[in-house]
Amino acid sequence: MADLSIDFAGIKSPNPFWLASAPPANTGEQVMRAFDAGWGGAVWKTLGDPIVNVSSRFGAVDYAGQKVMGFNNIELITDRSLETNLREIREVKRRYPKHAIIASLMTETKEDWRVLIQRCEDAGVDGLELNFGCPHGMCERGMGSSVGQEPKLLQEITAWTKEFAKTPVLVKLTPNIGDILDPGIAAVRGGADGLSLINTIKSIIGVDLDRLIPEPRVGTASTNGGYCGPAVKPIALHMVASLAREPEVTIPISGIGGISNWRDAAEFIALGSTSVQVCTAVMHYGFRIVEDMIDGLNNYLDEHGMKSVRELVGRAIVGYREWGELDLGYQIVAKVDAAKCIGCQLCVAACHDGAHQCIFTGPNDQQRPPHAHFPGTASAPRPQVIGALAGDRVPWVDEPECVGCNLCALVCPVPGCITMQETSGETGDNWNRRVQEGRDKVPGGIHE
Ligand SMILES: Cc1cc2nc3c(=O)[nH]c(=O)nc-3n(C[C@H](O)[C@H](O)[C@H](O)COP(=O)(O)O)c2cc1C
Ligand code: SF4
Ligand code: SF4
Repeated sequence: MADLSIDFAGIKSPNPFWLASAPPANTGEQVMRAFDAGWGGAVWKTLGDPIVNVSSRFGAVDYAGQKVMGFNNIELITDRSLETNLREIREVKRRYPKHAIIASLMTETKEDWRVLIQRCEDAGVDGLELNFGCPHGMCERGMGSSVGQEPKLLQEITAWTKEFAKTPVLVKLTPNIGDILDPGIAAVRGGADGLSLINTIKSIIGVDLDRLIPEPRVGTASTNGGYCGPAVKPIALHMVASLAREPEVTIPISGIGGISNWRDAAEFIALGSTSVQVCTAVMHYGFRIVEDMIDGLNNYLDEHGMKSVRELVGRAIVGYREWGELDLGYQIVAKVDAAKCIGCQLCVAACHDGAHQCIFTGPNDQQRPPHAHFPGTASAPRPQVIGALAGDRVPWVDEPECVGCNLCALVCPVPGCITMQETSGETGDNWNRRVQEGRDKVPGGIHE
């Protein structure tokens, strides 16, 4: 079994799995049940001056039978008194000294930050997370993402907190910004010990078409909220990776956004996260999802010969390049396994209407390759393919015309039926090199 323990800027945790600052980390009772289930740490629901919430406050997008593909909320920070939260933090820390407890904080003036930090550290937290990410409600009051969107202000407030803090300071970033490097680097320059991202994405989850009111509805109106859950994972992965490969970012990253299972977590770790945080998946399925996360990550590390999760951190960063560095000679083509095909024709529709018109079915003359209508451009003799399940509805690929876009394999409902196979390996040719060598003109341009 691999060693899952981590040291995040001095915050020790038995594993990289932390509850994100959100409803699952709202009370001591919840956090203790989470630790019993296996979570290594918790970022407490954001502390500050308690707020008043509205009812309702959550919305979700379901997709193709899958509930809660995306989740949206208009909730604010904690609605419980600071005194109550700190009493519970002290008690949880006493009972679970080896687990990580991080206080998420949001307040306004320098003096408020000083007092809040001191009171949290007196309660025994292992670290602090500055919530510069909340994109609704609090930003209208000059906090949350209104700080995260102003790198200079973010840097200044981070520096204030570093004057006062004895424990590590993590800065939680908003994705509602043009380039995540701007606030990320500002946090580093402000002295942050770590970064957490992403907070939620500004959104309207949908519209009640009978009442003609956006959702989630509060009486006769709604407001924009924060989007999270599985749908945001690709956005979060990109932002985490962008920071992880930035030379000025030398501090650890806590990856957040759509993590639901060990695989998601491993991807965030491979792209530079030292710890990962989870909110929506716990709200959907409960604390016990961490059992699969721990087992799955352990098995993965064992299978790949890694003795510690620390060996995985950032391992995929080297494979994340600019487009101009990608090899222009590398080529793959689609191959159909006739024995697996069920003849649904989804790949044919996709390739003809959404890709490169080079996948065809059967001997029917009306389904001739479109390029065959242009004399001299037909590129491949047409085989007749008969499959075990689909008969002559098995498609075949005109390989010289296939650009290897993956679309047919992505839409095919049968696992392993369409595979993409390499026909040419890397050649060393890429766009940046062509520009350097003056070979960047492609025939057929505007002035020809
Ligand atoms: C209902 C709800 C309340 C949240 N409250 C907070 C909060 O108080 N402080 C904070 O930093 N982030 C808050 N978040 C954002 C989460 O911590 C997390 O960054 C975001 O949900 C993305 O992770 P996920 O895709 O696993 O949900 C909240 C999210 C939700 C859904
Ligand atoms: S990989 Fe793209 S171009 Fe090639 S057959 Fe599939 S959909 Fe068509
Ligand atoms: S290859 Fe896949 S998508 Fe295409 S017809 Fe067969 S089962 Fe359908």
